[in-house]
Amino acid sequence: MSFTYLKKESIYRLININPLLLISTVSKDKKYNIAPIAWGCPQELNPTRLLICIDTGHKTFENIVKTKKFVACIPNISQLKLVKNTGGISGREVDKFKKFNIKSFIAEKTGCKIPDGITGYLENRVFKIIKIDSTAIVIGDVITAAVDKDAFDGKRLLAEKKKCKVIYHLGKNKFISTGNVIYS
Ligand SMILES: Cc1cc2nc3c(=O)[nH]c(=O)nc-3n(C[C@H](O)[C@H](O)[C@H](O)COP(=O)(O)O)c2cc1C
Repeated sequence: MSFTYLKKESIYRLININPLLLISTVSKDKKYNIAPIAWGCPQELNPTRLLICIDTGHKTFENIVKTKKFVACIPNISQLKLVKNTGGISGREVDKFKKFNIKSFIAEKTGCKIPDGITGYLENRVFKIIKIDSTAIVIGDVITAAVDKDAFDGKRLLAEKKKCKVIYHLGKNKFISTGNVIYS
């Protein structure tokens, strides 16, 4: 898969449909981790910021607090198994990349692992963390973002294309995806 870096002003178009994300992190002692996060959206257009809501007990949260960086990956429907696998166990217990044999490459700016086959990704430096009870709102400054070259037409994510259909979590074991574009 080959990726195209997005211009700063177009980056929010990757996440303005609020797709389910796989948040990839690395600990201070270089242990990689990844977990699905359904609660995410843009927080600001310029500079582009991404907001996620995350349980403070997750290993992902601990890594974000300690390293101040993370990558938000956008999986597509062909990667549902990856989503379910990585959301079913904590990185405190296993190395998910090893356990689930997740082929990946290293993100240029943050050094986190990005699973192969992903539709797009946004590398983030932490801007702000707001803890409320057992959940935290993590806001990241997007440093750079890239998208599968067939998944973006220069203006928007082509989420209607088979290999770019993103994932939404309905609850329990049920998921839904994007359909056809409706012109108005
Ligand atoms: C489809 C799906 C969506 C999820 N969305 C969220 C979410 O938005 N926020 C959250 O805190 N946890 C969410 N989770 C739960 C974490 O991904 C899960 O607890 C994971 O094992 C945490 O791993 P970690 O401890 O390695 O960070 C979701 C899980 C699944 C399967």
